[in-house]
Amino acid sequence: MNPDNPIGIFDSGIGGLTVAHAISKTLPNEKIIYFGDTEHLPYGNKSPKMITFYSEKITDFLLKKKCKAIIIACNSASSIAFTALKRKTKNKCALFNVIDPVIQSVVNDLFIKNLGVIGTNATIATNIYQKNINKKRADIHVKSLATPLLASLIEENNPQLYKDNIIASYLDSKHMSNIDSIILGCTHYPLIKSEIEHYYKGKIKIISTLKSIGKYVKNKLQKKNLLVLKKQIPKHNFYVSDYTKIFQEKTKLFFPSGIILEEENIFS
Ligand code: DGL
Repeated sequence: MNPDNPIGIFDSGIGGLTVAHAISKTLPNEKIIYFGDTEHLPYGNKSPKMITFYSEKITDFLLKKKCKAIIIACNSASSIAFTALKRKTKNKCALFNVIDPVIQSVVNDLFIKNLGVIGTNATIATNIYQKNINKKRADIHVKSLATPLLASLIEENNPQLYKDNIIASYLDSKHMSNIDSIILGCTHYPLIKSEIEHYYKGKIKIISTLKSIGKYVKNKLQKKNLLVLKKQIPKHNFYVSDYTKIFQEKTKLFFPSGIILEEENIFS
């Protein structure tokens, strides 16, 4: 593994650009290769078999691009395909999911007693946050809620999300009452963090997933001597499996400085 090689990041679509953006801020000298599987999104409603199949194909593509590390920037794929990808990438590159860093920061936070988690159907069905948090902190009571409409509405930048108060209609759920903190368990959700903060009126702690992921990846790469040493302004590459102009436009939501998407057909 060569520290000069790029970091691969992937998601079902463009939600993982929130992670790519955070990594580019925390590790400004690192070159990023991003793959968004726009042909198959949303992953949140797919079967574990298909999510694993797509994730393996993308991982092969990123390995071909000589990535020294791969970040699964999707909670749905992280919760379902991590073990399969760990096998595939063994001794070839460092592999990160977006769940472990958040769990690490939660279990170290003694304030948290009643924790809410929101995410896609796929992520919530695995119960991964509750299982892994309770392995380390049995005293944290975890309540999980699937919020399947949010990712698509965020991606559409759909005003209905705010007008019809879809966020509130999910969070009003009795199941989520009495929480003191909440994990935004989908890489799209940092884009509605301020709306969620507004809903809770500052009474609930919103766990900062992107900060935890950036810090975690930096520390691990540092320990493995895999951080690039030279100072540079890297040229990132962004690929999607199905290019449309609308998608190109939408990336501005996630990467305000603007990026160019290229289509790469890795599935046929
Ligand atoms: N970004 C994906 C995640 O974090 C959600 C979007 C999807 O369902 O494809 O789970």
